[in-house]
Amino acid sequence: MQELVSSPRLVVKGASQIVSLAGPARARVGSEMGDIGVMTGVDLVCSNGLVEGVFPAGTSSSDGKCLEIVDATGCVVLPGFVDAHTHLVFAGNRLDEMAMRSAGATYAEIAAAGGGIRSTVAKTRAASEEELVEIAFRHANRFLANGTTTIEAKSGYGLDLETELRILRAMREADSLTRLSILPTYLGAHAFPAEFTSETDAYVESILSTIDLVAEQSLALWCDVFVEEGYFSADHARRIAVRAHQAGLRMRMHVDQFADSGGAALAAELGADSADHLEYTSTAGIEELARAGVVPVLLPASVYCLGLLRYPAAREMIDRGLPVVVATDFNPGSSPTFSMPFVTSLACTQMRMTPEEALTAATINPAYSLAVGDRVGSLEQGKQANFTIWPCQDWREIVYHPGSIWPSQVFVSGNCVV
Ligand code: NIG
Ligand code: FE
Repeated sequence: MQELVSSPRLVVKGASQIVSLAGPARARVGSEMGDIGVMTGVDLVCSNGLVEGVFPAGTSSSDGKCLEIVDATGCVVLPGFVDAHTHLVFAGNRLDEMAMRSAGATYAEIAAAGGGIRSTVAKTRAASEEELVEIAFRHANRFLANGTTTIEAKSGYGLDLETELRILRAMREADSLTRLSILPTYLGAHAFPAEFTSETDAYVESILSTIDLVAEQSLALWCDVFVEEGYFSADHARRIAVRAHQAGLRMRMHVDQFADSGGAALAAELGADSADHLEYTSTAGIEELARAGVVPVLLPASVYCLGLLRYPAAREMIDRGLPVVVATDFNPGSSPTFSMPFVTSLACTQMRMTPEEALTAATINPAYSLAVGDRVGSLEQGKQANFTIWPCQDWREIVYHPGSIWPSQVFVSGNCVV
C-alpha cells in the first residue's frame, strides 16, 4: 500500500451507525459471527492514520486538537472490506464466455473449446510488465471504489517462469502505487499451460523451482494449487506444498469447486491456511477443516456467475465452529466482480448466512485469515483507520440492495482515497 501522510487527527461525526466489528483478537466463530458492534450516537476518532476509538458523539473534538472533521450525517460507517481471494492481474477479458454459458456450455466445455484459463494466459503472456501494472492499478481502484481496502491477489495467468514473476512484480508495484493493500500469492498451479500437456510432471517440476525463486525474491506470502479433475491432483498438491513450506511460503488451496475430490481433507493434511471454494465439500471434509484449523473461504459469486446452483454449505460450517470467510474470487472467467457488498448479499440469499455473519465473513475473519487481523478488519484502538462511509442509515442496506450500493467515501490510514 502506498505510504501516505496521515492527518494528525480526524473525527467522523454524525453517522447514524458505526459498525465496529470489535471483539476478541482472533477470527470470530459460531454465535460471535453475529456480534458486529452496531453503535449509534458515536463519533469515530482517528489519529496519525490509526483508530483512536469510538466515543459518544460530541465528546471527542472538544480538546481543540481536531484538525479534520468528516461529516457522516445520516450515513453508515464500516471497516474497509478485506477480500481474501482475488486473481487481480490478467490481460483482456472473457466476454464471449457469457453467451456460451447462456447457450448451456459448462466451464470444462468452454475451456476445451479454447476459452477458460488458457485463453487468459495467452493474452497475459503478451502483455508487458508496464501494461500489467496499469491493469493492476485499474483493478485496484475498482476494489477501493467498492469499499475494499485489503485484498489477497493470486498470480496464475502466466504459467511460465517469466510471466508469473512479471505478474507478481506488477502486483508489488501496484501495491506501492495505490492505496489498496495487496497481499500476494503464487498460483503457478492454476492450469497446465498448452506447451506442457503431455508432460504434466515436467510442469510440476517447473512450479517447484519457481517457488524457490518467488520466495527468494519475496514476491509472495502464499502458494496456491487448483485441485480438480483436469487440473492438479492431490499428489501434485502434496509435492507443491512440501516445497512451499521448505521455501517459507504458506498454502492456500482451490478445492472441491466442481466435485468432491476430498480437497478439504487434503487442505487439512497439508496444513493450508485456507481452503477456498468448497462447493462440493462433504460433512466429513468440514470435520477435517475444523480439526486442522483450516479457514473456509467461500466464493458464492463464482457459483452465481457460472450460472450454477450448488453453493457451499456455509450454515453447516458456521454451526461446526469454523471462522467462515466470503470473498469475490475476482477473475475474468468465473467471477468478474469487485463487489464485496454483492458477495454478502449472495451469502445471505444463497447460503443462508445472516447479514451479521456475512459482514463478519467480509471484514474481520478474512483479516485474520490473511494474518493481518491485528491491523485491519475492525474499527478498534490502534488499528489502521481503514473505513468506508455509505449513503444509508442502516448498515443492512449494504447487503439488502445487491449490485446497487457503493460507498460515498473510502478512507485508508485516515486519508480519503475515494
Ligand atoms: O477460482 N478455479 C480456478 N480458478 C478461478 C477461475 C479462473 C478462470 O476461469 O480464469 C476460480 O474460479
Ligand atoms: Fe480463484
